[in-house]
Amino acid sequence: MKIAIVLIMLGLSTILMYNNCGKVGDSGLASNGSETTEGDPVAGGIVYNSAAGSEPSCFTCHGANGMQYLGVDLKTYSAAQIETAVRIGPGIMPVYDSSEISEQQLVDLIAYIQTSL
Ligand code: HEC
Repeated sequence: MKIAIVLIMLGLSTILMYNNCGKVGDSGLASNGSETTEGDPVAGGIVYNSAAGSEPSCFTCHGANGMQYLGVDLKTYSAAQIETAVRIGPGIMPVYDSSEISEQQLVDLIAYIQTSL
């Protein structure tokens, strides 16, 4: 009888182990389920420092540490605030549409500003 219980427990724990497989590190996708992958700060650094279409680079106005002249420190902004600023262009800041900075480039750019600037 005891052996039967042990065997059932073993079987159950094996099933649980296999069920959890594949869930760890499974999410290469952004939380909204879109195709963008996690931000790559190295790729984002290139976006930050390069002109985008006809618009100047972020570096041109925000400088190497994101604090140049403008009274803003980019590192203090949330991902949502950075996204809004890029797509709407507050004040004299240009608007960057998705042909100039793609969704993936924007995710990379945010990763760069928040981790490497
Ligand atoms: C032509 C100069 C210029 C360029 C180029 C520029 N910005 Fe800005 N940015 C500004 C100015 C000026 C402000 C302050 C706007 C205001 O509040 O009036 C600003 C504000 C911001 C803010 C803060 C917005 C807020 O909510 O207060 C963020 C974030 C930002 N910029 C990100 C970027 C990123 C990322 C890039 C590159 C894709 C970029 N900027 C390119 C001039 C620029």
